[in-house]
Amino acid sequence: MPDAVNDALDLVAGWAGRPVISTIIKGGLSHHIARIETEDGDRWLLRVLDPRIAETGLGIPLDQEIANTVSAASTGVGARVLHVMPGAVVLEYLDGVTLDAPAVRGPRTIEKVAAACRRLHTGPRFVNDFSIFRKLDELLSRCRTHGLPVPSGYEDVVPVAADIEAALARRSLPTVPCHNDLLAENLIAAGPEIRIVDYQLSGNNDPRFELGDIAAESDFTPDQVVRLTRAYFGDDEHVPGVRLNLITSNLTWTLWFVVHQGLVRDRALPGFDYSAEAADKFAQAVRDIEDPSFGHLIDGRIPPTN
Ligand SMILES: Nc1ncnc2c1ncn2[C@@H]1O[C@H](COP(=O)(O)OP(=O)(O)O)[C@@H](O)[C@H]1O
Ligand SMILES: [Mg+2]
Repeated sequence: MPDAVNDALDLVAGWAGRPVISTIIKGGLSHHIARIETEDGDRWLLRVLDPRIAETGLGIPLDQEIANTVSAASTGVGARVLHVMPGAVVLEYLDGVTLDAPAVRGPRTIEKVAAACRRLHTGPRFVNDFSIFRKLDELLSRCRTHGLPVPSGYEDVVPVAADIEAALARRSLPTVPCHNDLLAENLIAAGPEIRIVDYQLSGNNDPRFELGDIAAESDFTPDQVVRLTRAYFGDDEHVPGVRLNLITSNLTWTLWFVVHQGLVRDRALPGFDYSAEAADKFAQAVRDIEDPSFGHLIDGRIPPTN
């Protein structure tokens, strides 16, 4: 177990005032996550932040992540923050089921996820702003500086991101406190509601990115995108914007996996193929950019269904 985790565990035992048993949770792709238990049955979640994740642009600065985690907890969507230590937090343990992509696609779940997003987005603003387009620029420049291998054809598609950004700017929306990384594993069904964990990429952003990112991460069909958009906004007006953000999510997070593979390889989750994930996300982005519907989306129109 890394020193940072051992140090944090000592601090947790001091805070708890009694011995604790820890079990590493293997789901996380970046930080060190452990379930903590005491003999008398208390359970908490320890999140030890790896500073290299922020240093390599794979996450926001740790102080911002902690501040946003506290803020998200105040809305009731995030887990309660019980104790803050240097570079680590002790969170409420959410007794529930971590979702997977097929679960997120369920019609009732789509509605619950939209409700959780609305609750987060109407809460206090986060301490930082976040633009997925600036994140793409930043990750791409890291790839170029370090000579990291992006999927073949990536550089040819880069100008499309500027076209998408311009199209979205023509119908801009106010930013709200967004999670920005809503893959299924950051959604926990606990009781009747969905809770949201892992504020590693959080920041005030366009809500259409939050929805597009959810759709990208859980492989939504166009109809499922409509359902999510309607559940969140109440109508279909922003369907084109959400679909453009779905593409941007795949384009940008392609590079997240390239940078992770290239710069923090020793933090890799065993058995998880970061390069294959990058290739898969890029293939999905290309599929959507080459689809005849793309021109409609850029023009702000819902494409006709065949
Ligand atoms: N507060 C919590 N209560 C219960 N389980 C949690 C909690 N936070 C995270 N988890 C579980 O641990 C996994 C990894 O945690 P996460 O914070 O997402 O780490 P990473 O940044 O490495 O992705 C989640 O997918 C979820 O299954
Ligand atoms: Mg996570």
